[in-house]
Amino acid sequence: MTLQQQLAETVRFLRGQGFEGARVGVVLGTGLGDLVRIMDVQKSIAYNDIPHFPESTVESHKGQLLFGRINGTPVIAMQGRFHFYEGYPMQQITFPIRVMHALGIQRLLLSNAAGGMNPAYGKGDLMLLDDHINLQPENPLRGLNSPDFGPRFPDMNQPYHPALGQLIKAAAAARNATLHEGVYVAVMGPNLETRAEYRFLRMIGADVVGMSTVPEVIVANQIGLPCAAVSVITDECDPDNLQPVSFAEILEVAGKADKVLSSIFADVIGQL
Ligand code: HPA
Repeated sequence: MTLQQQLAETVRFLRGQGFEGARVGVVLGTGLGDLVRIMDVQKSIAYNDIPHFPESTVESHKGQLLFGRINGTPVIAMQGRFHFYEGYPMQQITFPIRVMHALGIQRLLLSNAAGGMNPAYGKGDLMLLDDHINLQPENPLRGLNSPDFGPRFPDMNQPYHPALGQLIKAAAAARNATLHEGVYVAVMGPNLETRAEYRFLRMIGADVVGMSTVPEVIVANQIGLPCAAVSVITDECDPDNLQPVSFAEILEVAGKADKVLSSIFADVIGQL
């Protein structure tokens, strides 16, 4: 079955389940689910029950697609995402982005947990993505030759939509939240980096490092879907003073920053 046929089936299924009329899509990253509490959830479906969706394998991710309203705006939210390190092909990881777009969303907001390499960033801070570096070993557009998917060579001069970024900055300022602006580098994972790797990633121009988001943003750019993304800094990656960090600590820090990030997203969504 082609990707187009899969898309058509999944969209038909979700429409039948009432996933109709959303203006905004949201992807919630590792340890970041608080937005769901602000949401007036009307429908929720486990990824396992959606045709052609991969099964989420990360315990910290709930793995369900939600439909409802946030501050009055109809949204589709992914509670948990798919990562390359889980073993899926890139086209499967990014399949939900194409599905949400086909269901009619006009804006996409993404969140993630990331390691902070910029020494000015502290644990629990937020960073708006101004740009990214893709070091993942595969690309979600590889092999997709049909114009059905968008341009073969999407321009990436401005992968994150400036007007959406402005809304996020204004919402953060109104809530007195620290919001840096910088460059995210995507690696495959799932191991965290060595000291030498953090030093290298900082040297090539990245402020934070994570294992997600970039494939989704590449697809969003191909299909012409304006997007914005925010990282929660869950650990400080100073190669000259690197402390051991566990996934549990990453989750704990993400959990603490979750409330303010969710409030910012909710403020922005209400304006869309
Ligand atoms: N490296 C990669 N991914 C991450 C990190 C990190 O230090 N922290 C949270 N996600």
